[in-house]
Amino acid sequence: MLMDCISNEKAELTLDGKTYLLPIVVGTMGEKAIDIRSLRAETGYITIDSGYMNTGSCSSQITFLDGEKGILNYRGYAIDDLADNCSFVEVAYLLLHGSLPTREDLRKFSVLLNCYSLIHEDMVHFFDHFPPNAAPMTILSSMVNSLSTFYPEMNENPLEDIDNMSARLISKVRTIAAFSYRKSLGAPLVMPRHDYSYCANFLNMMFDSPVNPYVVDDDVVAALNKLLILHADHEQNCSTSTVRLVGSARVNLYASISAGINALWGPLHGGANQAVIEMLEKIHTSGDDFKKYIDKAKDRNDPFRLVGFGHRVYKSHDPRARIIKEACDQVLGALGISNDPLLAIAKELEAVALKDEYFIERNLYPNVDFYSGIIYRALGIPQNMFTVMFALGRLPGWISHWTEMWGDPNWRIGRPRQIYVGPKSREFVKIDDRK
Ligand code: ACO
Repeated sequence: MLMDCISNEKAELTLDGKTYLLPIVVGTMGEKAIDIRSLRAETGYITIDSGYMNTGSCSSQITFLDGEKGILNYRGYAIDDLADNCSFVEVAYLLLHGSLPTREDLRKFSVLLNCYSLIHEDMVHFFDHFPPNAAPMTILSSMVNSLSTFYPEMNENPLEDIDNMSARLISKVRTIAAFSYRKSLGAPLVMPRHDYSYCANFLNMMFDSPVNPYVVDDDVVAALNKLLILHADHEQNCSTSTVRLVGSARVNLYASISAGINALWGPLHGGANQAVIEMLEKIHTSGDDFKKYIDKAKDRNDPFRLVGFGHRVYKSHDPRARIIKEACDQVLGALGISNDPLLAIAKELEAVALKDEYFIERNLYPNVDFYSGIIYRALGIPQNMFTVMFALGRLPGWISHWTEMWGDPNWRIGRPRQIYVGPKSREFVKIDDRK
């Protein structure tokens, strides 16, 4: 049960000569918030905070991150430990259930995932009606939204059926993602197999061919597990907040997740992993002059930004970027890719930017997307599928937040306010009298 821990301290706010005492909420890791829930009722004022830079929208037990120190924990476990020791399915279980699975828990969860891995034949036909060049993220969000028409179960308390709903989504999204890729190639669909692990199954559905059977490579499976784990949750980012906001209207899980997929698509959010590779390719084809791009990024009159750099929350380093950079060297080594020019440019860019005053002053460091695209590329995942891969990883996090929101005793429909700065009341003019 989610409980706010109220401190004995109070914040003092003086407005129009009157002093108000506002409660202070303290998290388990010591972070503090001023509780303004009664502010408007008591004072007539609201707070304004574009981009929600200082706004806590909820209390949560799922993920802790400290942007100043570069710490990221899921359910209390350090991301490094999880990435080094777990499979993605174990981490998904952890996020959904709050504790790491025993072997028996994991076996049962895997059985459930297998049992939901196929999609309804009518849904398979949907793929035929998207234009051939449709972006895979649009296909994914449309297909996930349509799951609510095939599984309209939304009991009075959907939490009673949450294990089935979660497993269904996590399993089917993998199948939908692989099918959308196969359809874009005009290649025959490859069905999921019960004898493969989650990641091996996905890779097989993507790359198996009737004329050239796919051989599952343990290094590739391990790399994919790691990437999905690192993307599995990141507390109240844009897409997760979208899932919570849409879900706060008591919309079903599938529709809420579909909204989150659309939010993730943006180039300032999950779409950045694809944009990074496009940027690195551009630098490469234009003669590897990466310093020119650093100058462009620093130029206030140039809209160009060094994609894969900067983060709203991390102001010392993104712990996921460090793990991914190491994994990048390991995976490329294991796959025998000794000199990837894009990896070389990425490392040069990073080295130059980390010594440059512009980036230092603004706390701009490589984020999770800076190196992930290089690994996906090495694994054979096409560029237009990178953000879909992010969605596959983020799914357990979104579901956990949606579930937590449903059970939150402080739940309210999300409805921010605004300060109106438009015209004051105007006299109405009939259409023929307007100039
Ligand atoms: N390249 C160059 N300058 C940058 C960059 C960048 N990548 N990122 C931020 N800056 C500069 C801004 O121009 C601004 O400079 P100013 O103070 O002189 O005006 C300053 O740094 C602060 O930037 P904001 O945009 O205010 O920072 P914000 O927290 O709002 O944005 C964001 C964070 C969106 C991630 C931003 O850093 C960015 O656009 N990065 C590139 C896109 C990217 O990699 N997105 C993926 C993020 S990770 C994820 O979503 C999974």
